[in-house]
Amino acid sequence: MAAAAALLVLLLLLRAAQGLKAFNYSFPWNGQQQMYELDIGWPKLPEYFTGQTFCVAVDSLHGLVYVGQRGENVPKVLVFSEEGYFLYSWNDTVEMPHGIFVLNTATDSSVWITDVGTGKYGHTVKQYSPSGKLLQVLGTPGNAGSSLIPLQFDQPADIFVEGSGDIYVVDGDGGMNNRLLKLSDDYKEIWLAGTNGTGIGQFRIPHSVTVDLFGRVWVADRDNKRIQVFDKVTGEWLGSWSSCFSEDGPYSVRFTANHKYLIVAQLNINRLAILAAPPVGSIGDCVMVSAVQMADETKPHLVDVDMKSGAVYVAEIGAQQVQKYIPLG
Ligand SMILES: *[C@@H]1O[C@H](CO)[C@@H](O)[C@H](O)[C@H]1NC(C)=O
Ligand SMILES: *[C@@H]1O[C@H](CO)[C@@H](O)[C@H](O)[C@H]1NC(C)=O
Ligand SMILES: *[C@@H]1O[C@H](CO)[C@@H](O)[C@H](O)[C@H]1NC(C)=O
Repeated sequence: MAAAAALLVLLLLLRAAQGLKAFNYSFPWNGQQQMYELDIGWPKLPEYFTGQTFCVAVDSLHGLVYVGQRGENVPKVLVFSEEGYFLYSWNDTVEMPHGIFVLNTATDSSVWITDVGTGKYGHTVKQYSPSGKLLQVLGTPGNAGSSLIPLQFDQPADIFVEGSGDIYVVDGDGGMNNRLLKLSDDYKEIWLAGTNGTGIGQFRIPHSVTVDLFGRVWVADRDNKRIQVFDKVTGEWLGSWSSCFSEDGPYSVRFTANHKYLIVAQLNINRLAILAAPPVGSIGDCVMVSAVQMADETKPHLVDVDMKSGAVYVAEIGAQQVQKYIPLG
């Protein structure tokens, strides 16, 4: 009997500890206003996260959230509704997803995934239909390289595709390449920026990429602990920010729905930094206006923003889940 009672107490304690996972960890930054609150009801059933959750992408037009996860015998892509219901998953030809991006055009929508696997589907950037049908493969599957003819990647980290079809790839996540590549809609090189190094326009693990409304390309230059910005037409270097990243480098770059802020994950300090997005022209210095502090070992890796509701989704490698943060006010 005593043993059964002890077991019951243990189970209750475990339940309580699980509840803590859903605790509200956001707090006002330096007395600044709190901008987001955790949606503890998203997703409805966290049991679907069975691997390491590396990336997330929102299709705000259709209310879908795509999650890329890694692991043995786990589905690699999970699809949820924005309300948090699990819808379906897919697998084929995805090895080790790193970055993910949803492209909506006037006629259809698709999902781009960067794959850092080393098997026969690895070292590629792939386009899928929403249901997981492989539509396009960029790179040379199974072969790491730095060539442009034929196109080769080595652990491509992230991708951004414009409505025009122009593609930006950061390559890569620790492989032989440290470059930002712009490709046309027929997958030809338009320009290339960056080599391995710490100088202006060089990279040490270009980890995430996005493009703003003013024609500027933003790159999280992770191991150089800075964000670098380039002109999207010419590839010319426009500036860099490092003062916000003395404690930890930037892992993600994504703009908020109102384009006023950048959301930057800092994996090692378990933080989302919210930075003021500079208006057209010079990028000036970086200003952190708010932050979301997460629990130890959460390890936020990449994020995405619902451009309709403004919700921020965070793929957390440590906590092995994706969480949703809702803008306040
Ligand atoms: C999170 O904390 C803030 C204040 O710190 C509070 O206003 C908000 O209601 C909390 N959210 C949840 C889901 O508990
Ligand atoms: C994906 O493949 C794994 C085995 O690698 C399997 O366990 C899982 O059920 C598959 N999921 C889907 C949705 O196909
Ligand atoms: C980049 O340069 C550093 C310092 O010279 C070196 O340690 C590192 O291995 C290089 N990385 C690649 C991918 O060549």
